[in-house]
Amino acid sequence: MDAAGIGSTDSITPLAYHRRTRHLLQRYAAGPAMLDWDGQPDPFRRYGSSRTLPLPLQAAQWPTTCAELHQDLPARPMTLDAMALVLECSLGLAAWKSYGSQRWALRCHPSSGNLHPTEGYVVVHGMAGLPDGVHHYRPDTHSLEQRCGLAGWAGMAPTPRLLLGFSSIFWREAWKYGERAFRYCALDMGHVLASVSYAAALVGWRVHPLWSWGDEEVAALLGLDQPWGDAEPEWPEVLLDVRANQAMDAAPLPDDVLARARAASWHGQANRLDPDPCYRWPVIEAVAQATARPSGMMPAGQASSAVLAPQPALPGGTMRAAGLILQRRSAQRFDPEGSMTQQALHDLLGLLAPQLARPPWSLWTLPPRVHLVLFVHRVDGLAPGLYALPRSPHGYALMRQTMDERFVWHPCVGLSQDGWTSYLLQQGDAREVAGLICCHQAIAAHGCVALAMLAELEPLVQQEPWQYRLLHWEAGLLGQVLYLGAEGLGLRGTGIGCFFDEALAELLGLADQGMQSLYHFTVGHPLPDQRIATQPPYAHLQRR
Ligand SMILES: Cc1cc2nc3c(=O)[nH]c(=O)nc-3n(C[C@H](O)[C@H](O)[C@H](O)COP(=O)(O)O)c2cc1C
Repeated sequence: MDAAGIGSTDSITPLAYHRRTRHLLQRYAAGPAMLDWDGQPDPFRRYGSSRTLPLPLQAAQWPTTCAELHQDLPARPMTLDAMALVLECSLGLAAWKSYGSQRWALRCHPSSGNLHPTEGYVVVHGMAGLPDGVHHYRPDTHSLEQRCGLAGWAGMAPTPRLLLGFSSIFWREAWKYGERAFRYCALDMGHVLASVSYAAALVGWRVHPLWSWGDEEVAALLGLDQPWGDAEPEWPEVLLDVRANQAMDAAPLPDDVLARARAASWHGQANRLDPDPCYRWPVIEAVAQATARPSGMMPAGQASSAVLAPQPALPGGTMRAAGLILQRRSAQRFDPEGSMTQQALHDLLGLLAPQLARPPWSLWTLPPRVHLVLFVHRVDGLAPGLYALPRSPHGYALMRQTMDERFVWHPCVGLSQDGWTSYLLQQGDAREVAGLICCHQAIAAHGCVALAMLAELEPLVQQEPWQYRLLHWEAGLLGQVLYLGAEGLGLRGTGIGCFFDEALAELLGLADQGMQSLYHFTVGHPLPDQRIATQPPYAHLQRR
C-alpha cells in the first residue's frame, strides 16, 4: 500500500484508477499542492530542425453553412488546401486572449484547463505540394513539420491517401490536475475527434478510426516510439482514415507500411515543455499501459450503419460553419436569470442521437454507451428537476436498474426524440445540487440546463480495459456536439471535468461502478468578461 492506502501504481486497472481519481466532497483527487503559474508547460510542441511547410489559412472565407454541414456535400478533391482547412478548423487556433500582461491562445476544440494535451499528425501519400510521409501539425504557426519521408507508403493508390494520427502529452494536463489528468486527456481526445469530423464535413470528407491499429502500431507509424531525449513523451491515441470518396472504404493499407516507418529516418528533436517539473504522477503511465489498445481489436458491437431517424441540422442555418467553429468558446459565467425554450433544448439533445450519416456520428459507429442525466433549471414549459435521456434501449434498462428506485420515470414528450424517450426523474429546483456536484462551480447552477454523462463502465471495462478510453472519447464527442449546438442556438456551453463523483453517485443512487459519470456540461446565456481582450488567431503570421 502507498501513503494514500490505495495500492501500488506499478500496475492498476482502469476501474481502480477511476475510483482512485474520484473527487470527494472532503478531498480532491491527488494533485499538486501548489502551482507555479510562471512555470507552465509550453503549450506548443515543436520538432526543431525539421523541415516546415506553412499551410494556407482559409477558415475566414470558407462558405459552407451550418445547414450544409448536415447535407451530403459533394466531396472536394483531396488537395493540400482542403486538408489545411480541415486542420485549421479542428486543431488550429481560434483566437488569442489577453488580460494585463498575460496572453494565451484558444483553439477550435476546447481543452480542460486550456492545456491541450492532444497532438496531431498527418500521414500522407500522393498529395501535390506535400512530400509523402509523416508530418506533425503545429497549431501556433498553422504549419507542418516533416518527421519522416515515406516514399510511396500507400503502395499503388491512384489517388492521394491521407491519415490523421493523434497522441497525448499527459504531462500537459498532469502538471495542473495531477492523477485525474488521464481522464481529461481522454475527454479532450473525444473533443478532437468530433472537431475533426465536423471540419472534414466542411469539404465533404469523412473520417473513420482505424480501430484495428493497436497503440504500438500507431506509435510506430507516427514515430512516437523514437527516443524522446529529455522531452515529455507522447502516447499514441488513434489513427483516422480520411475519405473524400466512399469507394476508398475498402482500400487497405499495404502490409509493409509499418516496416517502412520503423526503418525510416526521423527528423527533428521534440522540445521539452516543462524544464522543471515539480511532481510526478506515475499512476497516469500505469493506467495508460493498462488501457493500451491491442492490435487487431475491433470495439465490440458495431452499430448498424442504418440511419436511425430524420437528421436534425446543426443550428445556425445559413451561418458559415467555419465561423461557428471559430467562435465556439466556453462560457465562464452565465446570466442566472436566462432561460431557453423547450424546443431549443429538444433540438440540442437531438444532435446527440447517433445518426450515422452525419458528423460526428459518421466517425463513431459504435453503440451509444454514454447516457445523460439532465439538471433542468430554466427551460420554458418544462418543470425544473432531474431528467434522464438514455441514448439506447440498453442504456434505459441499465439506468433503471442502477439508479434510485424512487425516481418516477415519466416520459417527457417535449424532450423526446424520434427514436428515444426522455424521462422526468424527479421534479424540483436542482440548481444548488448541480453547482455543488460540479465542484461548487456556479456555471452548473446558472446555466439553463446542466447535465451529467453516465457511462456503462462495468462490466465493459473489466472485459476490455481499453474501452475506458473510448468511453471518455464518446463523452468528449458529446461535449463537442453540445458546444457547437449551443453556439448555433445563440447560447453557450462549458464542459465540466471537475465534479464530485461520489456526490453525483449518491444523488442518483448509483450503487456501484456499473454506471459512472465521466463528464458534465452546462448550457446557458453567457456573460462576457469585458476585462479580457480578443485578438484574431493568426494575425502574428501575416499570411493569408
Ligand atoms: C474535458 C474538459 C473539462 C473541462 N472542465 C472545465 C471545468 O470543470 N470548469 C470550467 O470552467 N471549464 C472547464 N472546461 C473548459 C475549458 O476550461 C476551456 O475549454 C478552455 O479554457 C479553453 O477555452 P475555450 O473552450 O473557450 O476555447 C473543460 C473543458 C474540457 C474539454
